[in-house]
Amino acid sequence: MTGLTRREMLAAGAATAAMTMGGTAMARAAASGLDTIAKTRGMRFGSAVAFGAPGADRGSFANPAYAAILERDCGLLVPENELKWQWTRHTQDYDFRQFDAIVDYASAKGFRTRGHTLFWAPQKWFPEWLVKHDFGPQPAKAAETMLADHVRTVCKRYGAKIYSYDVVNEAVEPSTGALRDTVVTRAFGSGEAMLDLMFHTARAEAPHAELVYNDYMSWERGTEDETHIAGVLKLLEGFRKRGTPVDTLGIQSHIRLLKDKPVAEIVKESEGPWRHFLDAAVAMGYKLVITEFDVNDKKAPTDIAARDIMVADYAKAYLDVMFSYPQLKDVLAWGMVDKYSWLTGFDPRADKTMTRGCPYDAEFKAKPLHAAIGAAFAGAPAR
Ligand code: G3I
Repeated sequence: MTGLTRREMLAAGAATAAMTMGGTAMARAAASGLDTIAKTRGMRFGSAVAFGAPGADRGSFANPAYAAILERDCGLLVPENELKWQWTRHTQDYDFRQFDAIVDYASAKGFRTRGHTLFWAPQKWFPEWLVKHDFGPQPAKAAETMLADHVRTVCKRYGAKIYSYDVVNEAVEPSTGALRDTVVTRAFGSGEAMLDLMFHTARAEAPHAELVYNDYMSWERGTEDETHIAGVLKLLEGFRKRGTPVDTLGIQSHIRLLKDKPVAEIVKESEGPWRHFLDAAVAMGYKLVITEFDVNDKKAPTDIAARDIMVADYAKAYLDVMFSYPQLKDVLAWGMVDKYSWLTGFDPRADKTMTRGCPYDAEFKAKPLHAAIGAAFAGAPAR
């Protein structure tokens, strides 16, 4: 047990006790700490967390009710926004105040922290100054200096406090499968050159860290995800051909109930092609990580009880497929509480009710989705 924090040792003890019990006890255990259950299978669970002023009504460590959930369920944390360029480079200078506060909390409480993200590739997420930036007469050199400096600065500042980085997030354009075209890739001359520079610099500056390419291609059929998946596979092949140091494919896992169909039917049509994709990725030697799990309940019924069951069933089916891959060890939810979820704001339901894609409801009560995640961990093959 060397290397485990006190909190992890206590949690692991509780989990081992739970796992020696029968099925009902197992279900009860699944209603408690998710990281505890995950650890019994050699896996880990965590969540996104936000910065906030003390007591803020946000998904923040500074919100006591939210922090209590993180401390009960999670061993891993990832900043929802605070390491993005819009936060750390809102001007051309660096500003790490908000992310520092998250890292300080994580260190004090014994969480492991992921770095999301060293670069979010779509131009719409660049800070304004970067969109307008003049890269001068030697644009490739200037862009290289700027991005390498960013990676070095972040990696040096946080050292071993960050165990895994989303080095680049969402570089593939879903509608074409090609690499996105932005002011930065144009300055580099190609998207591949930009990506390679980022990963090589990260490996040199943070040799201890897992380096992840992260993207949102999802398993739902009949959407542009199919083109997206083909583009991501091509990118992964390119990394291997060029010797780019990418360890892991980050699968965001914002899964979506978008169709008026029973869960079993959606799963049946999704699973085969999705496994084909995962098989191809692991055959190239990539590990897998679920980086941003939640469930978009857009087409699920308004009735809360029925909706929660549908969300939980869909999640369980998806996680069962994912957990059948021993290359997957870490699972992070994109927030733990519905009322703080990005889903309500970014993709509201037609009936205007709050989305219910997180493990806890707005009153901080665990929902069937929480039990489903616990049950998926409890049933996962051990790593
Ligand atoms: O905090 C500011 C506040 O000061 C300001 O007054 C207000 C007015 O716009 O904005 C607040 O910031 C918002 C921030 O979320 C915090 O709530 C931003 O506008 C809003 O754009 C931002 O959205 C985030 C989004 O990424 C864009 O950065 C979501 O919280 C976050 O969940 C979402 O996360 C992404 C992942 O990084 C990548 N994968 C997809 C995922 C979901 O879109």
